Amino acid sequence: MTDKTAGGDVRLSGISKHYGTFTAVHPLDLTIPQGSFFALLGASGCGKTTTLRMIAGLEEPSTGTVHLGDRDVTHLPPHKRPVNTVFQSYALFPHLTIFENIAFGLRRRGIKSVKKQVDEMLELVQLGQFAQRKPHQLSGGQQQRVAVARALINHPQVLLLDEPLGALDLKLRRQMQLELKRIQTEVGITFVHVTHDQEEAMTMADTVAVMNGGRVEQLGAPAGLYENPRTTFVANFLGTSNLIEASVESAASDIVVSACGTTLRLPAARCSTTPSTGGKLLVGVRPEKISLVPAEEEHTVATGRNRITGRIAASSFIGVSTQFVIDSPVCPELEVYVQNIERDGRLVPGAEVVLHWNPEHTFGLDAAQDIDAGIETVEESA
Ligand SMILES: Nc1ncnc2c1ncn2[C@@H]1O[C@H](COP(=O)(O)OP(=O)(O)O)[C@@H](O)[C@H]1O
Ligand SMILES: [Mg+2]
Repeated sequence: MTDKTAGGDVRLSGISKHYGTFTAVHPLDLTIPQGSFFALLGASGCGKTTTLRMIAGLEEPSTGTVHLGDRDVTHLPPHKRPVNTVFQSYALFPHLTIFENIAFGLRRRGIKSVKKQVDEMLELVQLGQFAQRKPHQLSGGQQQRVAVARALINHPQVLLLDEPLGALDLKLRRQMQLELKRIQTEVGITFVHVTHDQEEAMTMADTVAVMNGGRVEQLGAPAGLYENPRTTFVANFLGTSNLIEASVESAASDIVVSACGTTLRLPAARCSTTPSTGGKLLVGVRPEKISLVPAEEEHTVATGRNRITGRIAASSFIGVSTQFVIDSPVCPELEVYVQNIERDGRLVPGAEVVLHWNPEHTFGLDAAQDIDAGIETVEESA
């Protein structure tokens, strides 16, 4: 199954998928570099599985081509592609031992001496002592590692993972994310990982493609996407953003805007649109970039900071931080996360406060978009 001469990137060129009149995936161009850990992230129904199935050969694209390196695999059946898939339901053979489950792919190809390779795989997924157990004698996370080993023993060029951790509880998911990342680093095979969980995508992937409505909305390294979202969907879907509607007062290397009489600044380089004086702009800032002081301490805020006055509407203590919701004429329901280093007893619901942050930490988005895009879909997809 492995064709070691045909290494290379996964290249999708104009691939799309229609079901009748419905378009599940719009024409998509995507290059997934060889050896990378790539995540397709998006809410339920946005076309992730369909895209993955077209790479696997389980779904025929309506248009476009799939290349692995220089090789056009668009019309190859799944078993002829150097690709393996791990699904959420890992479907191990219940009557076979873990050893035999992992050996399955080799035996099917008529390979007799499997022990060395199976032992290597058992070691890779750290399940050596469980070789003789049956699947039902393992935890969900261990079973999923068996599924990964069973796929990797075929030495695929690309491993496709479709919400593989979806059935696991949160703590186990976190462990398995790190575990899968370690395995990928160790074997160096391209992983394409589908998930609706933005933290999962950011933890594991070198590159994340954020999908929305059958299209890739933005693609990049996790930190780059998080710091510089180019659309309201990405700003809201990846973490939380405060988006403030403002009008542009002046536009040079710094943009100066006004929101309800409050002046804010941001670097032009962090605008995903070209603002013009008198036009509208959505001004974004992440909750953890904002500092909070009681209104009577406003004199302690350094000059040059963006600042907004408001009132604490709610606060929730979540251990490492306290999350505040603040109402302000400038923007309703601003979110602010404050690290619990020294807690200020004055920061309680009802308190008048000043929010302030470094203008460099502000980004600008085209105001013609839906300001709430990507918010409700996060909940739905769970
Ligand atoms: N075989 C099919 N026939 C008709 N519609 C489909 C089929 N498979 C998927 N779809 C639709 O295509 C869209 C994308 O599906 P899918 O790729 O499974 O999304 P995701 O994996 O992101 O949740 C959904 O609206 C889904 O209902
Ligand atoms: Mg899916």
